[in-house]
Amino acid sequence: MTEATTERIIPPARNILGSLRLPGDKSISHRYALLAGLAHGKTRLANFSSGADCASSLACVAALGAKVTRDEDGAIEIVGAGGHFRHAEAPLDCGNSGSTMRMLAGLLTPQRSAYTLVGDASLSRRPMERVRKPLAEMGADIHLTEGHAPVTIRGSQLRGIDYTTPVPSAQVKSAVLFAGLQASGTTTLREAVRTRDHSELALRAFGAKVDRTIDSVSIAGGQQLRGIEAAIPGDLSSAAFFLCAAALFPGSNLVFDELGLNPTRATLLDVLTALGAQIGVLNLEEKHGELVGTVQVNAPPDGMKGTTISGSLAAQLIDELPVLAAIGPYTRNGIRIRDAKELRVKESDRIALVARNLRSMGAEVQEFDDGLDVPGGQQLHAAEIDSGGDHRIAMAFSVAALRASGQTVIRGAESAAISFPEFFEMLDQVAER
Ligand code: S3P
Repeated sequence: MTEATTERIIPPARNILGSLRLPGDKSISHRYALLAGLAHGKTRLANFSSGADCASSLACVAALGAKVTRDEDGAIEIVGAGGHFRHAEAPLDCGNSGSTMRMLAGLLTPQRSAYTLVGDASLSRRPMERVRKPLAEMGADIHLTEGHAPVTIRGSQLRGIDYTTPVPSAQVKSAVLFAGLQASGTTTLREAVRTRDHSELALRAFGAKVDRTIDSVSIAGGQQLRGIEAAIPGDLSSAAFFLCAAALFPGSNLVFDELGLNPTRATLLDVLTALGAQIGVLNLEEKHGELVGTVQVNAPPDGMKGTTISGSLAAQLIDELPVLAAIGPYTRNGIRIRDAKELRVKESDRIALVARNLRSMGAEVQEFDDGLDVPGGQQLHAAEIDSGGDHRIAMAFSVAALRASGQTVIRGAESAAISFPEFFEMLDQVAER
């Protein structure tokens, strides 16, 4: 069966100007939804992500016995299942969301019932062994289908482990911590590259004690969570498309209010600064451990330089790499990306799709197993872009289109709604044509 796809036409822009308030961070929304679903009592979440991915997490916790409603102000209210999820009759549908599937696997393996987790065609191709392995070491009864979804779980008593993650993945870390919360003894997770720490902060916000060192995090089992009231900060990975768009136009000026600025997520601001953009941060505040602030970006007056992204930077920028590669041709010295093999197992093979779409716009680009070389000083022309059903590819090439000659067609534009349904509307709002 082929799914309906929509096209968007992106004309070039002359400048990017304005101010935006973005929907809630996707990573934080997932975690708050899942932990609120398990917690005791009521949680109220303002500015919850509007993306389809986070709706999958909400639908799953609702199917597991949490009560999920939306109040008159648009905030999500969740009355948690009080520590015990009920048996789910039907398979739990995680849609396109790897975060939902992997983190839910951690939450469910120590529960009392049997569960099956399924996803769409893209999610069903993504690797799940990375979560099965540590959970099985904790004693979980969890099975995959040739390394992928469907994931079947028969809940059982788990024991704490000391685990070093071979892949830098916040999702794997979260799955292990969420299982550890409900296991006997203490669970310690060690990572060589510090991945986003929203789960550690969310667990604390919901009342759990979490201990951290520079490269490890530990949680004792048997702790209970209680509901919270929170306003979720704007999504920096969604802002990335606009930050990069603004960096393309000397004279641009863009302001984001209430943007999430968690240091494990904010590396993009350093990269943009290295490219020559001026970034200002104001009104910094902390909300449930998460940094939030106002960000202003102005493009470098004489164009962007270039940069190399490799090593731990690649892991920390993993969701922003497609858009950074897509603006590479417009820099002076190009964008070079290495150590980013993980991009090949995201919602699509993002290395292959970025290379293919850049070439269709007339760019020279070299593809490597773990990255790309995008030389600078290139002018692009309009083309028909194949998003591959991947939200970040659709949005990244909408940004590249802003400085191309002619009108670019984004195929599969509806995929933007996976993380950011308002994207095209907001782009029209800030793009001066
Ligand atoms: C996420 C972690 C990243 C990222 C994904 C969201 C999260 O995946 O690519 O979009 O919320 O923990 P990995 O941790 O698997 O790299």
